[in-house]
Amino acid sequence: MSETTRQLRFEIFRYNPEDADSEPHTDVFELEETPFMTLYIALNQIREKFDPGLQFDFACRSAICGSCAMMVNGRPALACRTLTSDLPDKICLYPLPVFKLIGDLSVDTGTWFRAMVERTEAWIHERLPFDPDATEERMSDDIAAAIYENDRCIECGCCVAACGAANIDSAFLAGAGLNRIARFQMDPRDQRTDADWFEVLASEQGVFACIGMMACEDVCPKELPLLDVYGYLRRKSLATALSSREK
Ligand code: SF4
Ligand code: FES
Repeated sequence: MSETTRQLRFEIFRYNPEDADSEPHTDVFELEETPFMTLYIALNQIREKFDPGLQFDFACRSAICGSCAMMVNGRPALACRTLTSDLPDKICLYPLPVFKLIGDLSVDTGTWFRAMVERTEAWIHERLPFDPDATEERMSDDIAAAIYENDRCIECGCCVAACGAANIDSAFLAGAGLNRIARFQMDPRDQRTDADWFEVLASEQGVFACIGMMACEDVCPKELPLLDVYGYLRRKSLATALSSREK
């Protein structure tokens, strides 16, 4: 073994909620680290060498699909993007909290994101009837770039899992949900007014329910500017509240 080769010790959460005999516990596996090993590679080796029943999710292996997020030494991260060389010899892997557990490291983020999309009606609300012959409206480059920035979210759920408010109330919209609102609130094609948005933003699960831990932006693998999103939505909401008092 070369001087630089490490023996990695993985402590992995195991539980199958569908099996009445299954009890939550951790299993320990040891692997020799290889160059450029990611957690995704390590988990596949563990599954091939030691336990074909180990459950975890992945699809793209390149930080695009958002399905491989898990708790890595207590912090949400993408398994496909995390190099073992950036971690200590002992690596603890747990499923993301807040989301429904499917088994071991696999969680159902889809139900949470679908509920968020339905609650925020995350699609363009165009009040004019569709006219296929109409000339396409122009959008300024700055607004298009700002919308594109928010649209980079891959729905991995890391910001939700890291969020103190979402861990208390899983219906809190959290970074991902509020980011989605900002995206549509900025879009000039969407004709919902600030007063319409106020209903959801000022609700118990809206932007003021954030308890200020600021973990969402820290853990977002796409480095979305979530704190700017919170600032934008709070300023908009306060302006709406003040203007309605003046009327
Ligand atoms: Fe993941 Fe970032 Fe989107 Fe949250 S905002 S779901 S951390 S990509
Ligand atoms: Fe798609 Fe990791 S496998 S983001």
